[in-house]
Amino acid sequence: MYNQTVMSKFLNPKNAGALRGANATGKAGNSSCGDVIKLYLLVDEEGIIDEAKFKAFGCPATIACSDIACDLVAGLQVDEALNVSSKEIFDELGGLDDNRVYCSVLAEDAIKLAVEDYYKKKAKENK
Ligand code: FES
Repeated sequence: MYNQTVMSKFLNPKNAGALRGANATGKAGNSSCGDVIKLYLLVDEEGIIDEAKFKAFGCPATIACSDIACDLVAGLQVDEALNVSSKEIFDELGGLDDNRVYCSVLAEDAIKLAVEDYYKKKAKENK
């Protein structure tokens, strides 16, 4: 059901866990299956994502998508992270079953919400 890449990310997600000092978080959930991803970003003063980590509750594909999402956004300028799509996450994993495509969409949503949170906090700081 899951390919080898998905299984290895699921069994050994290197980006799992809370991120100390994170200055942005995004929490996305799928109400139909109950899966939830919380993404943590540590963005430096130049607006570069130094580190990304996640906590997730869900199926192996959701865990694997979360882990890949962290890899894909790390090192990007925070607004560039908005270009990381569910398709890119899907492709990096070597594909997912049709009924698991939504897991990659959930990871994309978590990225978008984390970036939104970053800009909201930044706007508050500048008031
Ligand atoms: Fe629901 Fe993965 S099974 S998002």
